[in-house]
Amino acid sequence: MRRKAEALRDKVSVRILALETSCDETAAAVVENGRKVLSSVIFSQADLHALYGGVVPEIASRAHVDACDRVIDQALREAALSIRDIDACAVTYGAGLVGALLTGVSCMKGFCYTARLPLVPVNHIEGHVSANYLSHPSLTPPFLCLVVSGGHSHLVRVNDYGDYALLGQTVDDAAGEVFDKAARLLGLPYPGGPEISRLSEKGNPTYALPDPHAGGEFDVSFSGLKTAVINIVNSAKMKGEEINKEDLAASFERRVVGILSVRLADAAARHNVPAALCGGVAMNRVLRNRTGELCAKKNITFYCPSDSLCGDNAAMIGCQGYYEYRAGVRAGMDLNAYATMDVSD
Ligand code: KG4
Ligand code: ZN
Repeated sequence: MRRKAEALRDKVSVRILALETSCDETAAAVVENGRKVLSSVIFSQADLHALYGGVVPEIASRAHVDACDRVIDQALREAALSIRDIDACAVTYGAGLVGALLTGVSCMKGFCYTARLPLVPVNHIEGHVSANYLSHPSLTPPFLCLVVSGGHSHLVRVNDYGDYALLGQTVDDAAGEVFDKAARLLGLPYPGGPEISRLSEKGNPTYALPDPHAGGEFDVSFSGLKTAVINIVNSAKMKGEEINKEDLAASFERRVVGILSVRLADAAARHNVPAALCGGVAMNRVLRNRTGELCAKKNITFYCPSDSLCGDNAAMIGCQGYYEYRAGVRAGMDLNAYATMDVSD
């Protein structure tokens, strides 16, 4: 297997079959030379978890086991390729739900063993960053990227394809997590981010909410904001008053967007490099627009992946997997899955 991997390293065209199972999406994709998506299949389990108001790890693992083979078959079919046309496989091995990750890792180990293909391990956070390369073919490092998903709020300096520096992160809840929790307080279903967005379009930001400060200059904290929303909802309940959900959603979204957009634009200006967003929360239109405006004022180029590449998908794993593959990164059959992982781990 290793000899084949070495021989393929200098091939002109490299096709990677990628699998992503870190949370509640089972996704497979075929990506050519890191930048061209030949197919991308996403099976969302959101409906299975909506009943419980959040992702249930055991249900996620079982659903991945059922769906892995299916999404891989479909990705190959949609790319009009067979296993023989694939040069390597990439799989997310962290960060995420460890049981969910293990299903994907085990599936790809079996696939690589039988097909005699090299296996490339990919860090989920680095995958999100790489989604920007797929939407913006001219983008190359260095740039700053704010990863805002259900599990992360990382401000990362991308020095090179495999070279990252963490400049800041949340000290408590992740950006998507705080959207989901606020939505639950307002009685909205999971996932809460898009629900808050929809509601806030009909409201005005009339509620005063705090701008909590975290330790480091580019760190963020959302717990004070979350507590403020809890207090508003509870005190209205005790007084028998109605809260204006649209206005509270708009106030909350505006505050979160303010916290995130200012951090990214300021840091990019300081480093004098382009700025980028990624992760599920990057689908938020107010966040995209506000960050774009702030960057424009500072003469900073701003990038954001298309919607389908913001949420969890395997194309981003195939893209990052390609750069890892080029750098000679390979996993053995002893590859494990990790619930927590920083960039560059
Ligand atoms: O990146 P992602 O699909 O999965 C993780 O890696 O976590 O992100 C999911 C998160 C959820 O918390 C969801 O509520 C949030 O992204 N999200 C949004 C929006 N669309 C999805 N948050 C705010 N506004 C949105 N429009
Ligand atoms: Zn993600």
